[in-house]
Amino acid sequence: MKSHQWGQLFDANIETYRGARPKRAEYVLDFIRSSGCDVHSILEMGAFSGKDIRYLAKRLKESLCCSLDREQAVFDRAARDATSCVVADAFRMPFCDKAFGITFHSGLIVVFDDRQSRAIIEEQLRVTSGYAIVFAHNRWNFIDIMVSAIRRARGNSLFRYRRFSKGLLRQLVPAHVDIVRIDYVDNMLVNVTRRRAPWLLKPVSRIAGLMDMLLCNEVVVIVRAS
Ligand SMILES: C[S@@+](CC[C@H](N)C(=O)[O-])C[C@H]1O[C@@H](n2cnc3c(N)ncnc32)[C@H](O)[C@@H]1O
Repeated sequence: MKSHQWGQLFDANIETYRGARPKRAEYVLDFIRSSGCDVHSILEMGAFSGKDIRYLAKRLKESLCCSLDREQAVFDRAARDATSCVVADAFRMPFCDKAFGITFHSGLIVVFDDRQSRAIIEEQLRVTSGYAIVFAHNRWNFIDIMVSAIRRARGNSLFRYRRFSKGLLRQLVPAHVDIVRIDYVDNMLVNVTRRRAPWLLKPVSRIAGLMDMLLCNEVVVIVRAS
């Protein structure tokens, strides 16, 4: 895939990211709370705006929260204040084995091919002692595919990425590790209802949930590292 100019993309999109809901962090926090796993330290790889790791840093005050990105230019001041920032390559991270209780990334493997995505997940698992979480764009959400195509056509290369199904994500995880959960997440109909008609959230969520595969923006896999 043609490479992205992350520094420029950061300058052009950071305001949107700052205002966005930290959806991945909310999902990660729900998982942490429901599984009771150890969160002495959390790493977000390819953190970009850092909005998700910052949300976690605010809520998990006892945890060491670390944001890693290959580009120094994408570290927002807010991320520098709230987390330990590391400039490094996700393919070869400067951490010892099992350094972090939880590791996650979103929008990272979507700019790499299968072989590279597998290598990133293997490196992620090396530095994880508890759970490794991978978010990627859903290949079955045709509405989102169309919207992204329009944004790409208007010149925003942030929307130049590949998409994943549950099956493909499963294939990228090494065979010897346990998949504890694989879900379609971030249902767009639920999101709109939450913003526009919150009083309808309960019934709409029930109906929209039946169409998660077509309506969710992302697919996520959670893997037990040890
Ligand atoms: C789409 S952005 C991630 C967005 C982020 N999840 C957010 O919500 O703000 C992808 C990020 O991955 C970073 N990246 C790309 N290749 C990388 C690599 N090999 N190692 C570390 N970071 C990398 C880019 O610099 C960019 O900041």
